[in-house]
Amino acid sequence: MNDFVVRGIRAEEWRQAKALRLEALKDSAASIAFLETYEDAAARPDSFWQERALGAGEAAGGARQFVAEADGREWVGSVTVLVEEAGSLDWAGMPVERRQGHVVAVYVRPEWRGGAVTRQLFEAGVEWAWEAGLERVRLLVHQDNLRAQGAYRKVGFVPSGVKVPVGEGFGDFSGEVELEFVRERG
Ligand SMILES: CC(C)(COP(=O)(O)OP(=O)(O)OC[C@H]1O[C@@H](n2cnc3c(N)ncnc32)[C@H](O)[C@@H]1OP(=O)(O)O)[C@@H](O)C(=O)NCCC(=O)NCCS
Repeated sequence: MNDFVVRGIRAEEWRQAKALRLEALKDSAASIAFLETYEDAAARPDSFWQERALGAGEAAGGARQFVAEADGREWVGSVTVLVEEAGSLDWAGMPVERRQGHVVAVYVRPEWRGGAVTRQLFEAGVEWAWEAGLERVRLLVHQDNLRAQGAYRKVGFVPSGVKVPVGEGFGDFSGEVELEFVRERG
């Protein structure tokens, strides 16, 4: 069972999106991978997941979620690209200088790691960003998440040198340090 396809999600698929996110938040690397706990996510109402899927669905312009769907239609991995407009402030309150993509919520099921799933998810996300006219794509990765850093280098992202301390408002995650990785439009 190595076959899969990568595609954008549809708004009505919010239950699958929720299930994959909750699974990701139980991953052994979750504490250095995501700025959210399983308990907080699990407590969110259906409307949260519905709005998120709507915002990342095919009709939306400000974000796009891609998933890898294995045989049997099981979702085995996901990336989401958010659009950050020049002149706005990002989630950390830092000014955004160029119109860019921000890749978040990167997760691939353990048995699908080390192969083509991660690469193809990123190809789809980055291609979408270029088609949307974005000038660069960035992501933030915890300084201790060495596997993710290795994966990002393999798909063309390099450290920009920017370090982002996680601010107050992120509970136990406050004070952690994230590194910015960037892929410029070629
Ligand atoms: C992050 C993630 C999507 C990466 O996908 P992946 O399929 O595991 O990535 P790959 O195996 O293709 O690439 C990882 C690379 O880092 C290397 N690597 C693994 N552990 C490493 C470590 N401790 N130190 C340095 N390099 C490491 C691997 O050897 C590999 O490089 P190689 O193929 O040249 O050998 C996946 O591991 C995942 O879902 N992890 C849990 C959630 C997470 O951390 N998400 C990222 C949030 S920023």
